[in-house]
Amino acid sequence: MISEKLQLARKYEEDHMNKIPETDRPMFHVTGGVGWINDPNGFAAYNGEYHLFFQYHPYSTHWGPMHWGHVKTRDFIVWERLPVSLAPDCVYDEKGCFSGGSVELPDGKQLLIYTGVSQEKNEEGVECEYQQQCIAVGDGLNYTKSDRNPVIDSGMIPDGSSKTDFRDPKIWKDYGKYYVVTGNRASDGSGQILLYESANGIDWNYLEIVDKSDNKFGKMWECPDYYKLGDKYILAISPQEMQANGMEFHPGNCTAFLIGTADNWLHFKREKMQAIDYGLDFYAPQSLLTKDGRRVMIGWMQNWDTSNYGNDDRMIYGQMSIPRVLEWKGDRVIQNPVEEIKNYYGKRVAFENVVVEKKISFPEISGRVLDMTVEIQPTNEQEFEWFQINVAQDDEKMTIVYYNPKTQTVKIDRTRSGDRYDVVNTREFMVKPREGKMKFRLLLDRYSVELFVNDGEQAASMVIHTPLSADQITFDVSGCVTMNVEKIDLEEKLCEQKNMM
Ligand code: FRU
Repeated sequence: MISEKLQLARKYEEDHMNKIPETDRPMFHVTGGVGWINDPNGFAAYNGEYHLFFQYHPYSTHWGPMHWGHVKTRDFIVWERLPVSLAPDCVYDEKGCFSGGSVELPDGKQLLIYTGVSQEKNEEGVECEYQQQCIAVGDGLNYTKSDRNPVIDSGMIPDGSSKTDFRDPKIWKDYGKYYVVTGNRASDGSGQILLYESANGIDWNYLEIVDKSDNKFGKMWECPDYYKLGDKYILAISPQEMQANGMEFHPGNCTAFLIGTADNWLHFKREKMQAIDYGLDFYAPQSLLTKDGRRVMIGWMQNWDTSNYGNDDRMIYGQMSIPRVLEWKGDRVIQNPVEEIKNYYGKRVAFENVVVEKKISFPEISGRVLDMTVEIQPTNEQEFEWFQINVAQDDEKMTIVYYNPKTQTVKIDRTRSGDRYDVVNTREFMVKPREGKMKFRLLLDRYSVELFVNDGEQAASMVIHTPLSADQITFDVSGCVTMNVEKIDLEEKLCEQKNMM
C-alpha cells in the first residue's frame, strides 16, 4: 500500500524533475530529483546492482520532514532515478524517516532500516522527540513498513543514554547474522556507537558500546559505519561539535575513521583516528562491499556548517561525493575514486616536464567536467615558495588548490567560487611529499572539485557555485617547479551515455 504522503512526494518529484535545466546538475554525481538532499542511506548491493537512498525533502531546497529518495547504479557513475521510497507517514516516523541502511534478505527482498522520529509525551506528560529504529521490506522499488515498528526501541539502549539522539542504523550481514550500529549520546552528553544483532532483521538484541567520545571527540556521533579493511576494523563516524586538533580535524561537523581491532565485531579497540575528508563539504559517509571485494564509500558532499542554505536560485540543493574505494595501506586508509570513471574517459591531453616559472595555462586544458592529474617536483633542486592550481576560473572567479612545500601543507580555497553567503571557504591540511614530489588529482563535475593528494593519502572535497562559463585552468608558482599534467575530458562520453538513456 502506497500512502498518500508517499504518493504526493512521488508525484511532486515527477512533476518538477524535468523542469530543472540539465546544466543545473552535475554530470556524474548524485542529486535529488528536485529539492533538498542530505545523507546517503541504504548504500548496498541488491539484486545485482548498487542501490543508494538519501535523506530527501523534495518540496524545497531546505531540510524538511525527511523522506528517502532512491537511485541505483551498476558502475557508480551513471545512476538511474527510482521513485521516492519512504515518506514520514506513520505515527512512529511522523517527524521524519532519518538515515539508515539496507541489506538483501535471503528471500530476495530488500530490507531498509531507518530512524523513525516521533513526538510523544514522556512519563511526566511533556512532549518529547523520540528516535527509534524501524524497518521496511521491499522489491527495490516499493517498500512496506513493518507492523512491528519500531524494531529497536528507545528501551534498548544503555541506562541514562539519550532517547532523542539515537539514530542512523547501518546494517550488514556476517556469519549468517545481521548487525546494526547506531549513533547515540551517552549520559555525559557525548557520542557513542551502539551495536545490535539479529537472526532475521526483525528481532534485535543489544550487544555493546563499540566506541565512545568521552567528550574528547565531539558531541553527538552521527551516521556510523563499521567494516573490515585489510586486517583492521574501521568505525567511521560523523561527530558533531568536534574541536579542531592541529590540522587533522576541523571544528564542527567532522568525519573520522576510528581504526582498530575487534573480535568478530565485538570488543573494538581503537588504535588510531584519521580524518576522512580534509575539505569543506563532506559528511555522513556510508560504504558497501562490491561483488569484486572493494570497499566503496560515498558521502554527502556538504555538511551542516557549510550548507549554503537559501541558495534558492536552483530547484535542487545538495549532492553526493564520487564513490571512493578504500584501502588500508599499513598506516592510513587510502581513498581513490572508483576505477569505473575510466570507462567515461574522453580526450586526453598531457604535457610532461614543463618548467613552470610564472602563471601559465594551456589552450587544451580547460573545462568543468574532467579528471586532471598534476605532478610537481622542484626544478634542479631549486626551492619554491608555493605552487597553485586554479580551476573554474574567469576574470572574477577561481577555485584554488595551493601547496606550500616549507610547511608541507595544501590549502583549498573557494572564496571566489560563487557562494552568495559567507560560509567557510578555505581549509588547510598537512601532506607528505615523496622526495619533494607532489601529486594532485582533481575531479571536476560542474559544481564540485574533489581533490585526491598523493594517490589518495588525503581527499578534500568542495562544492562550488561558479557559473559554468568560468572554465579556465591555470598553474601558478612563486619560484620554479617542473610539472607533468594530464587532463582527461569526461563530458563527451557522459553526454553520449545520457543521450542513450
Ligand atoms: C546527519 C543527520 C542524521 C540524521 C539526518 C536527518 O546529517 O543529522 O543524524 O539521521 O541527518 O536528516
